[in-house]
Amino acid sequence: MSADEFTYRTADRSDAEALVPLINRAFEVELEFFTQARIDLVETLKHFDKGTFLLAEKHGELAGCNYVELRGQIGYFGLLSVDPGHQGRGLGRILIEQAEQFCRDAGCTIMQIRVLNHRTELPPFYDKLGYHVGRVEEVEQVPSARIPYNFIVMEKNL
Ligand SMILES: CC(C)(COP(=O)(O)OP(=O)(O)OC[C@H]1O[C@@H](n2cnc3c(N)ncnc32)[C@H](O)[C@@H]1OP(=O)(O)O)[C@@H](O)C(=O)NCCC(=O)NCCS
Repeated sequence: MSADEFTYRTADRSDAEALVPLINRAFEVELEFFTQARIDLVETLKHFDKGTFLLAEKHGELAGCNYVELRGQIGYFGLLSVDPGHQGRGLGRILIEQAEQFCRDAGCTIMQIRVLNHRTELPPFYDKLGYHVGRVEEVEQVPSARIPYNFIVMEKNL
């Protein structure tokens, strides 16, 4: 697979409906820790007020997304989702690199990501892409949590 197998663009609100199943399919792995799907339409739409979804498409279908938010000097990405049929072939890396470029262009000097502590496979993935563990963030537990959780904040200089 190569980057040119996909087309890339930023989303607008009309993409929200297609984003919901993409994100929820990718995050099915977290149903082990939460009783509810990762996101719904209302929550997805709220993200358009604060940030930007970067999209990858193949033959007009969404294959991946990455949500990017600018917080002054710090850029943040989250909801990184690669459709399970396209995982493990480099698209996640491309979407992260695009988020980094987006934030660099906006003047950010640091990129951050929050990783659910139970997803022990993720820190090695982000480590490979230049991220290091910053701190642990304790959060109020959502009612759908099956077990207590917190977030590991990982970051990288841009
Ligand atoms: C995490 C996710 C975005 C990765 O996307 P992907 O397209 O499968 O990843 P890539 O193929 O781009 O992998 C990039 C690199 O990380 C490595 N990698 C991928 N998954 C890994 C894992 N679980 N552990 C260690 N390394 C991993 C790959 O080998 C690759 O390295 P290489 O280029 O040196 O071979 C994807 O699996 C996904 O959507 N998961 C569900 C949602 C999720 O967990 N999102 C992140 C929440 S913070």
